[in-house]
Order: sequence, then C-alpha cells, then structure tokens
Amino acid sequence: MSSAVLDVAAGKSWRLGGRTRKAVLVLHLASVGSWLGLDVVMAVLTFTAIGTDDESTKALCFRVLELVTIWPMTISGLACLVTGVLLAVGSKYGLTKYWWVVVKLVINLLLSTLVLIALRPGVDELADRGEANDLAVPLNDMIFPPIVSPTLLMVAVVLSVFKPWGLLRKGKATGSSSREHAT
Ligand code: HEM
Repeated sequence: MSSAVLDVAAGKSWRLGGRTRKAVLVLHLASVGSWLGLDVVMAVLTFTAIGTDDESTKALCFRVLELVTIWPMTISGLACLVTGVLLAVGSKYGLTKYWWVVVKLVINLLLSTLVLIALRPGVDELADRGEANDLAVPLNDMIFPPIVSPTLLMVAVVLSVFKPWGLLRKGKATGSSSREHAT
C-alpha cells in the first residue's frame, strides 16, 4: 500500500505534492476553460438561431447545439469536479472546511446535473427538428442555459481567486486561523 494511503488510514491529512498539485491545477484550469468556452459556443448558436431569418442557418444551429453541448459539457464538468475535489482534499482547504469550496462544489454538481436533466431533452428535440427542417419552435426557454451557466461559472472563478467567507465551522481547521485560506 502506498504511504499516502497509509497516511490517510492513520488519520493524517493527505497533501498533494508540489509538482502533482500543479499538474492537477493545470487540468482543473483546462477543464474550467473548456467548460466556459463551450458555454460561449452555446450562446452564439442559441442567439444566432433566435436572431436569424435564414432557415438553413437556423437548422444548422439546432443540429450543432447537440454536438457541442451535452457530452462535451458533461466531460468538462466531470473533469472540473474530479480535479477540484483532488485539489481540495489534497490541500489545507479540504472539501467541507471552507464556504468557498463548498459553494463551488454545489455549483459544479448543479450545473453538471442540469446539463443532463434540463438541457438534454430540449437540445435533442432541436437537433431532430433541425434535421427534419421543422424550425417553427419557440426558443424562449433556450436563452437561460447560455446565461445561467457562464454566470455561475464566473461566480466559481471569483470564489476561487478571492476565497471569501472563511471557515464553515469556526475552529475546525487544526493549526490554522479562519484567514488561513487567504494566504
Ligand atoms: C464550478 C466550477 C469551478 C470553477 C469555475 C473553478 C475555478 C477555479 C479556478 C479559476 C482556480 C484557480 C484559482 C487560483 O489559482 O487562484 C481554482 C482552483 C481551485 N479549485 Fe476550482 N473551480 C471549480 C470547481 C471546483 C470544485 C468542485 C472544487 C472542489 C470541491 C474546487 C476546488 C478548488 C481548489 C481547492 C483550488 C485551489 C485553490 C488554490 O490553491 O488557491 N474547484 N478553481
């Protein structure tokens, strides 16, 4: 058994080593970047479909939306979640010690779930309609995902950088003050 596993079993806190932590942080930032990028593409396709009078452009937007949203977003969201959890658990921050980490966890889980549960049915229907050239469909509900998702992701980015609000339970972080997170 590796020493890291033995440390955790013995109740000692486990830390990611310097280089490994940097590598995981790079992957975390890459997943955040791709997730935000996919949101931008989703916004361009959605608002182009709403604004255009050209039927072939609209049909193309409907079909491409399915390609660039559901699975690419799910994979980015999962990669972000896994690397974020590793960074949290393998550092002084922990998974449930600081408000900013917990709120990010909730945002990540919420958005990843919404992609599969709320976005997928609508996008699948649009792709079918795009293929059948049946384009008379109200797109009112489709404006929310490209607004809500990047807004919440930017909230998570701001939380990551400013690390506000301190500890969830005062005095739980051994050997640290509630401002430790700011260092
Ligand atoms: C919701 C999507 C997320 C976004 C947009 C996001 C964004 C970021 C960004 C931009 C950083 C770099 C901050 C810096 O180096 O100054 C970062 C680091 C970090 N993230 Fe996330 N993150 C997300 C999800 C998560 C999740 C789910 C967790 C854990 C539960 C997490 C935990 C962390 C930790 C521990 C760091 C390292 C902070 C540091 O060492 O300064 N993140 N995140």
